[in-house]
Amino acid sequence: MIPLMKNAFLNEFETKKALAEFILKAERLSMGTECLKFERKFAAFQGCKEAVLFNSGGSANLAMLQALKNLGRLKETDRVGFSALTWSTNTMPIIQMGLIPVAVDCEVSTLNVMSRQLEERLAQTAMKGLFITNALGFAGNLDKVREICKERDIVLVEDNCESLGTTLPSGRTGNFGLAASFSFFIAPTSVFPCAAASFTMAQASTNPG
Ligand SMILES: Cc1ncc(COP(=O)(O)O)c(C=O)c1O
Repeated sequence: MIPLMKNAFLNEFETKKALAEFILKAERLSMGTECLKFERKFAAFQGCKEAVLFNSGGSANLAMLQALKNLGRLKETDRVGFSALTWSTNTMPIIQMGLIPVAVDCEVSTLNVMSRQLEERLAQTAMKGLFITNALGFAGNLDKVREICKERDIVLVEDNCESLGTTLPSGRTGNFGLAASFSFFIAPTSVFPCAAASFTMAQASTNPG
């Protein structure tokens, strides 16, 4: 059988040693000063205003939708579009928040929702939100998608859990909507040593609304 991955850690020995030392010495294991440092560094890396660390991308997705409801940007029974190719913890929070999920088809050549599919779906049904997934390290034409959302007053949020670091000519994925989620779990990203995720709110330069 071919294993999913060989090593879960970058610089396996040094990373495990540093983690073990941290666990032995730290007074708090989570939401402490290291967490704050990481949030600031991640926001700078991503080029956004704020980052908030969660235990997983799934939790970040739920928190994002809850935040949009708390802010009054979405309310129960509002229709929210999602990419037909996505992960269960993208769609489940939509249902859990009492919103109505509306599947938007993906382009076979990019595996992602493109503006064409979004326009076609919008011709059939209105949406108050679009929770788009940037799938498998790729993304659709997010600049055009953002434009459509702006014109129609649709709140755009990105599930960037599979595409951390992806950059389009029009910008880094995760910076096109009001907020985005990222995952550092080994399976979607193969880069970071732990399962954690953050989301960013109120993008400095790309906030559509
Ligand atoms: C599109 C997508 N959203 C959310 C998640 C959830 O991320 P996590 O595993 O960190 O909960 C994943 C994958 O794991 C994913 O592929």
